[in-house]
Amino acid sequence: MSLPLLFQPIQLRAVTLPNRVVLSPLCMYAAWDGLANAFHFSHLTAFARGRVGLVFTEASAVVPEGRITHGCCGIWNDAQVEAYRPIVKAITDLGAVPAIQIAHAGRKASARPPWQAGAPLDASDAAAGLAPWTASGPTAEPVSAAWPAAHAMTEVEIAGMVASFAAAAARSAKAGFRVLEIHAAHGYLIHSFLSPLSNKRNDRYGGDRTGRMRFGLEVVEAVRAVWPAELPLFVRISAIDGPAGGWSLDDSVVLARELKARGVDVVDCSAGGIAGPPSFRANDSGVALKTNSERPPGFQVPFAERIRREAEVATMAVGVIVAGDQAEAILQEGRADLVALGRELMYDPYWALKAASTLGCDPEAKMWPNSYGWAIQRRAEIKGER
Ligand SMILES: Cc1cc2nc3c(=O)[nH]c(=O)nc-3n(C[C@H](O)[C@H](O)[C@H](O)COP(=O)(O)O)c2cc1C
Repeated sequence: MSLPLLFQPIQLRAVTLPNRVVLSPLCMYAAWDGLANAFHFSHLTAFARGRVGLVFTEASAVVPEGRITHGCCGIWNDAQVEAYRPIVKAITDLGAVPAIQIAHAGRKASARPPWQAGAPLDASDAAAGLAPWTASGPTAEPVSAAWPAAHAMTEVEIAGMVASFAAAAARSAKAGFRVLEIHAAHGYLIHSFLSPLSNKRNDRYGGDRTGRMRFGLEVVEAVRAVWPAELPLFVRISAIDGPAGGWSLDDSVVLARELKARGVDVVDCSAGGIAGPPSFRANDSGVALKTNSERPPGFQVPFAERIRREAEVATMAVGVIVAGDQAEAILQEGRADLVALGRELMYDPYWALKAASTLGCDPEAKMWPNSYGWAIQRRAEIKGER
């Protein structure tokens, strides 16, 4: 049989991904001082061992204030480069491509982790050494009524932030990452400038779509200028806000064309997050995509499909992609070029290997690392599975 598309390599600039299965960026809220540690090592290398082709770190903050929580990773100093380096090497040694997502949480910074409901930090957290800080955004309007006012960024601060993203990209290259993604989704800083629901500025960084896209596009230009030309650049967007009057799929098609023109190789098509708690959830304050039943398998794939077709740019689909045949169909039908999985891979880091088996392209467990493969095959024979 011919190899399923899911397991065929794909070339992006000078980087060849061994297959099209991607670990979506996943915040672990397990760092201190923004430093990746043994937990992140064991977490990320598991996916490389499980034959995920492209392994993303969690959103790594470009400045300390850009973290969502005190436990988020960062890439604002050289100690963080050194902390990531062994992880990068191990992912590479296992045959996968190491990737980093760089981010600023914007209005959603200074929060508790999701298992504490992602609420904003307050004075009670300070006693435990987890002092709150002032979140930044396009205006002072907080992400929801439950949050303290944000700091409205000045034009000088915007320019500084563009430079911080570029410096973070340069550090990411130093750490050995081969793919870089700018996080422009989920209500975080760049998205909060894009969306008319959150960007009420009346200077050149606000107003019409061109004004609202300006900050994000400046970040992309500055990052592309320092991120090595032979390495691919991804941008994650929220293809739609959801609530009426918000950022739309039409807007995303326009943005994707602008991104492509600035050297972005892949548009990663997520959605939602402009309001509500600082998590991946689209919107818990009552408007769009608010319940799990509104997120059936592949619910965001139509965004990747339309952007791919109309902006003629490679896309990554994400969101409740759970089965090998589902992932393969997305690729076969030309709806996306890559498929990213989050929770399904957390649940089963060997998802890709099991998908290969289900799709019939690894009958003898040869895709597994040698150290495992012979024993996995023996196990299958004993169980009468092969
Ligand atoms: C624990 C957790 C942490 C996440 N952290 C990030 C993140 O750092 N950056 C990001 O862009 N998305 C983040 N997301 C969203 C995921 O990358 C992914 O888009 C989402 O979970 C949908 O994919 P899934 O249905 O395969 O899990 C996170 C999701 C989860 C569950």
